[in-house]
Amino acid sequence: MPRTEPIRRVRGIRDLMPQERALWRTVEKAAARVARSFGYQEIVTPILEHTDLIERVGSDTDAVAKELYRFEDRGGRNLALRPEATAGIVRAYFEGGLNQGPQPARLFLIGPMFRYDRPQKGRYRQFFQFDVEAIGVASPALDAEVVELAGSWLREVGLSDLDLELNTIGDSKCRPAYLELLRAYYRPLKEKLHGDCQRRLETNPLRLLDCKVPQCQPFKGKAPRITDHLCDECTDAWAMVRRLLDTAGIEYRLNPYLVRGLDYYTRTVFEFYPGGASGQQDALVAGGRYDGLAEAEGWPSTPGVGFAGGLDRVTEVVAASGAEVIPEPAAEVVVLADAGLEVAAAEVARVCRAARSVAVDYEPKSLRAKMRSANKLGARWVVLLSAADAERHAAQLKDMASGEQAEVSWKDLPERLS
Ligand code: HAM
Repeated sequence: MPRTEPIRRVRGIRDLMPQERALWRTVEKAAARVARSFGYQEIVTPILEHTDLIERVGSDTDAVAKELYRFEDRGGRNLALRPEATAGIVRAYFEGGLNQGPQPARLFLIGPMFRYDRPQKGRYRQFFQFDVEAIGVASPALDAEVVELAGSWLREVGLSDLDLELNTIGDSKCRPAYLELLRAYYRPLKEKLHGDCQRRLETNPLRLLDCKVPQCQPFKGKAPRITDHLCDECTDAWAMVRRLLDTAGIEYRLNPYLVRGLDYYTRTVFEFYPGGASGQQDALVAGGRYDGLAEAEGWPSTPGVGFAGGLDRVTEVVAASGAEVIPEPAAEVVVLADAGLEVAAAEVARVCRAARSVAVDYEPKSLRAKMRSANKLGARWVVLLSAADAERHAAQLKDMASGEQAEVSWKDLPERLS
């Protein structure tokens, strides 16, 4: 028979192997713990959404325009793999009646997102986010709250050297006039901008400010700044956010060019980077306020603010920082039984499981080889079972650390292991 090529994983989509999961689990647990400590509850929304919903996030957004995984299902529906969580969480907030409950609804989600981006280190086509949203209240105190939550999470996983960048991008009251000023400033320079920016000049001029292409850089410095053109409400909110962060002792850098890739933002926007890395690599955490999103989705106008942290990036930075993560043993106890004792071995495992995680080695190989693999699994104890022992409902319990071995009756095993 001709051998067929093994089928490999999809480009840009990774397996997370058991040895990586220990660190991931630590980072996820910290996320859930910190979110809960701020009064946020977990929500799970589907990975599939109507393409229409995702497009409301902003059709000029790269994540939507260029990177969306979309398909037609067997019923002819246009569906998409979610590229981010906020649009779905806002939808669920209304469909699940959270808009009727106490406000804001404080929610968090941990799960996979999908973007057909060019894969590279820290950027994948399936990646995981820790997403946090406070929906239903416009107070700038919530902007500061989610920034503090994100910072607490990153510090809890051992990242203390962080740069926080902060900006405001105004709202539907003051931004339109500002965008006209920005267009007026850039129009005479149009020919000097790169292709995407020439197009954005008309469709989404704010994005000109965060363009990274060298030929567009010289013009930013003299561009009008939104902070000089805010309406009174945005001015007050902006002052309040900064005051709250100051009193919380959270350091930040004001970056007038921070505008964010998704179109739904209003007022506060922010990003966390590893210390000294901003501008050179992608953000660990990014977010902001999105007071227009609910309405764009067809719901009553409702304010919201939140962020998403990239678990792929955060775990990479934590791993690179040399943080010690103790690998979890595959099994604390391994049962090694002589051939033909499968039934007894399974029973002994069941008994031990009351106290510890247990695996049975069913492979037909020598005792020495079995001891070696028990060691590799990280087992703390080995239970050796011979036919004569099984007869008497006894076994030999070996402590792998001290090398000591003693006979123990099955019923005493949980106590001896705990
Ligand atoms: P975003 O900036 O598109 O915002 O993504 C947030 C974070 O997700 C990024 O800072 C990064 O850590 C991670 N991320 C994004 N794309 C990738 C990728 N291809 N591979 C690995 N990690 C990635 C949002 O998604 C907004 N929904 C955040 C938000 C929530 N704003 C308000 N609420």
